[in-house]
Amino acid sequence: MDVFEPSGVRIAGCGSCVPEKRLTNDDLAGMMDTSDEWIRQRTGISERRILDLDKGESQFLLATESLRNALADADMQASDLDLIIHASVTSKMTCPSTACRIAAELGAEPAGAFDLLAACSGFVYALNVGEAMIRSGRYRSVGVIGCDAMSTAVDYSDRSVAILFGDVAGAAVLVRDEDPHRGCLYQTLNADGRMWPSLYIPDDESDLPVGVEDSGSRMGTLRMDGREVYKFAVGKFRDVIQDALNATGLTVDDVAQFVCHQSNVRIIASAMDKLGLPKEKVYINIDKYGNSSAGSVGLCLDQLWKAGKIKQGDAIVLVAFGGGLTWASSVWRV
Ligand code: COA
Repeated sequence: MDVFEPSGVRIAGCGSCVPEKRLTNDDLAGMMDTSDEWIRQRTGISERRILDLDKGESQFLLATESLRNALADADMQASDLDLIIHASVTSKMTCPSTACRIAAELGAEPAGAFDLLAACSGFVYALNVGEAMIRSGRYRSVGVIGCDAMSTAVDYSDRSVAILFGDVAGAAVLVRDEDPHRGCLYQTLNADGRMWPSLYIPDDESDLPVGVEDSGSRMGTLRMDGREVYKFAVGKFRDVIQDALNATGLTVDDVAQFVCHQSNVRIIASAMDKLGLPKEKVYINIDKYGNSSAGSVGLCLDQLWKAGKIKQGDAIVLVAFGGGLTWASSVWRV
């Protein structure tokens, strides 16, 4: 590979992919003891998209299509990429990484390819890593993907978890830019592993936290202390956004869009309220897609991008939190 000087970074294109199949609140109410009213009030979700496994849909295909779409948006070929970073906690295989299979499917070899695990923070983690690798001068173009098929990881007899999640993929293509002021102005990647028992997917009983008996849910499905995660997220969203503004010297007025992980509309609303973020600057699509884990922020970014709500020169703030517990922010001059 050529050696480059440190450079700026540009988002050359965005993409996403959502399954056709809808799972509505009423569908869930037919499967478990819940109601459309309860779910809407507590979460803001009306429906989510889920894979149709009978039609051969898969997490891998969803992720692949999102990057294919982002490459088309960037007017680039997969062979133009130096690296693919794919974030997910619902990939079926760990060897090879799903990123390697995506690279093969799209024809990106010999681009580097690896998977990254940061649960719902996955897209922002991947974006930050990809941006830093281009900025360092070592890479010219990186495809980043956040994709989860949470329908394959929830137990549909556990109403406290099943109502929240859906399946989507979001992707972005990052490229080197001559302007060193372009790209990520500030980024954070954080985790507090001591809080892992709040949100985890055990493979078998040895993965259960000390003192936790098997709750009866299927192994390989998500366990969550909803109240604990809620408390954490409400504080963290506010703090992370405030930190991003303090560090960059930007005010709320300077920011075109706050692109937030879609976890629960009440969590987002609480941050808006405490920080005085206006409605038109905080994109919300959780009503239609639920919480799609690593797919969520990338899908929001793509929808805002395609709707022309993010323009060249705009400042945007991306934030997410999730299992780990992890959290991350990314402030961009687009
Ligand atoms: N339908 C109807 N009732 C439900 C229910 C459902 N799907 N799920 C829980 N309940 C019941 C509970 O059993 C409880 O009943 P009780 O008062 O008789 O004990 C009552 O509703 C309140 O439960 P609680 O867990 O306190 O509800 P909540 O207001 O905290 O909402 C979540 C639950 C999961 C929606 C909320 O805690 C949440 O969004 N947490 C964050 C989760 C998250 O973001 N996870 C992903 C991180 S990336």
